Amino acid sequence: MSKEKSLPPELEPSHYIEKVSLVTGEVLDDEIQPKNLLVGNHRDYHLADVQARRFMSRLLKATGDEELVREKMKDLRERGHRASEMIAKAIGQRDPSKVSKALFGLKRKEYYFRYRKPPVSHDEIDALLAEMREEAAERLAAATVDGRPALRVLLTGGTGFVGQEIMWQAAHDDDIAEMVVLIRPKVIRDRKTGEVKETLTPADRGEALLRRLWLDTPELADKFRFVAGDVEQPHMGLADDELERLRASLTHLIHCAASVAFDDPYEKSFRANVTGTLNALAFSHSLQSAEDSPFIAHLGIETSYIHGRQVKIVAREEEVVFPRNFYNNYYELTKAMASIETERFIVEKRLRVVELCPAIVIGESRAGNNRGDAKVVNAPVNVFGRAHQALSKPKGTFVDRSSAAMIAKMACVFPGDPSAEMNLIPVDRVVAGIVAALKKPGAMGRRIHLGTDNRLKSQDITEIVREEIGVDVKLADPTLHRNVTLPVLTKLLAGVKQERLGNALEKLGSIFGSYTEWGQPVHEVGRDVEILGLSPERPNTRYAFRMLCRHNRYVQDFGQVRDLDEISRREKIWWDFCMDLEGLTGGPVGAVSAEEFQRAIAESLDLEGFVHK
Ligand SMILES: NC(=O)c1ccc[n+]([C@@H]2O[C@H](COP(=O)([O-])OP(=O)(O)OC[C@H]3O[C@@H](n4cnc5c(N)ncnc54)[C@H](OP(=O)(O)O)[C@@H]3O)[C@@H](O)[C@H]2O)c1
Repeated sequence: MSKEKSLPPELEPSHYIEKVSLVTGEVLDDEIQPKNLLVGNHRDYHLADVQARRFMSRLLKATGDEELVREKMKDLRERGHRASEMIAKAIGQRDPSKVSKALFGLKRKEYYFRYRKPPVSHDEIDALLAEMREEAAERLAAATVDGRPALRVLLTGGTGFVGQEIMWQAAHDDDIAEMVVLIRPKVIRDRKTGEVKETLTPADRGEALLRRLWLDTPELADKFRFVAGDVEQPHMGLADDELERLRASLTHLIHCAASVAFDDPYEKSFRANVTGTLNALAFSHSLQSAEDSPFIAHLGIETSYIHGRQVKIVAREEEVVFPRNFYNNYYELTKAMASIETERFIVEKRLRVVELCPAIVIGESRAGNNRGDAKVVNAPVNVFGRAHQALSKPKGTFVDRSSAAMIAKMACVFPGDPSAEMNLIPVDRVVAGIVAALKKPGAMGRRIHLGTDNRLKSQDITEIVREEIGVDVKLADPTLHRNVTLPVLTKLLAGVKQERLGNALEKLGSIFGSYTEWGQPVHEVGRDVEILGLSPERPNTRYAFRMLCRHNRYVQDFGQVRDLDEISRREKIWWDFCMDLEGLTGGPVGAVSAEEFQRAIAESLDLEGFVHK
């Protein structure tokens, strides 16, 4: 029996999703396994499918026209089906679908998935949202002291990448009177033996956070309080007396905690992302329902990738539809399920909620600071940086050196199509949106994308990586890479005692490769400006990505500097250096060329000890 069959009933995908017959339009009673909802489960199952995808990839590279490629793929499939019908007739097989499946790996799509949603009319929703906005405006006015809002916010996920920026911006925002941060204890284990070395309490973790965020002066630190909790537990694991205290004072909950691992199994992602969200929503609902509670709203941090692989239509802010081309991983799927739960709380329980959906979040826009984050786009940049370091100075005989050089070339291959577009957005812009939403009654009941309108293509990314870290990453056909190159490369690297690098590359290709294939979603943006009042000029993504590469190279040594206190020390120096350079050049540092930037580094920073010269 497969693992997925033994899921506890409350985790069943069929709570959220139904399978519908394309022939009759009826809802089918079949079991839905989580893996059925992922892209990976619907490809590479037949040699002919692998070949067809390779061909399409090459065609896209030659023409750059995704629509044309989709049409060709459709045409090819139709031809396959027609040929199968003829062959079936000739060999006396009554069911041509058996022939098309066996010979060409073709399956006629007989069903699609869709979300189960509460049945409400647009008029009902409009009336509900208008009421919510009015209530939120009244409550915001009531939370005003001396003409300014005095907001009291509970934050989950404060130790994370986005959460730390929320704390930093909150510290410098006079409208936020108090921020309570919910933190779980952290067990520190020996990296080699796995033995528990110590357990950090929420108070220890809070103190470290303030120090690393440069907020440990009384005037800034006094705004913060740290409480123990775990979002996967009922009432978010908060102690009873703390619950009472929060009920009497909180104006908002920002629910930012999640598991952002693209390779977590379904059940783990579900518990962190869906159960965690349900507990947070129930907590906010209890606040909203409590008499005399000053509660204004719940802010749910989602992701614009809840739209999955939605290729033909723009992924709209307004609604989530089940993506025709499925999800890349369980992270996206469970975040989408959490968003459906959030909609239910809005519609069925009238909870005042703002749903905020960041795209792929990268370091801060001016200097690239990311407080040690090594996830998502940082991972490939760091792995290629390390591969370059490990393999570009080979030792040994001429033969050893030549084989290392050859492997170095092979290692710097990434599955992807040059035209695939990624939506990268700096963390300071994302958090500006989150903080603005605290004060915007008009945002109630809205789903708002915090993404960019200047998306980067894979080919722009490889170009910047080449200029900034000297690595010539070649984009390879994703199907060929998955099925042939990667297994061979992993073996070769093991042969030259670079197993760790081999594993890192394998993980990288399988986890992140799906984001650089063609057919990426295009996320609508606009409400960040229209509703939240953010600047219509979104950060320049080319500059921000350049700063990510520079930061990860010099500050993080491609992920090898792991001590968060050391990262914090370096980031302060880095920030000052970047601001000085901005002053000198009179423009953003991201606009400075790679050579000029390296010259400035050599003049101003001693990289050995990472100090100003
Ligand atoms: N990073 C991105 O590119 C991105 C893009 C779009 C949306 N988002 C969304 O933004 C939010 C924050 O992401 P991030 O990048 O900051 O993630 P992150 O760096 O991995 O941080 C996750 C945070 O959630 C906390 N957390 C996880 N499970 C918890 C639990 N059971 N109880 C209490 N706290 C728990 C973690 O606490 P510990 O320190 O104890 O582990 C950590 O503070 C998430 O909702 C994510 O889906 C992120």
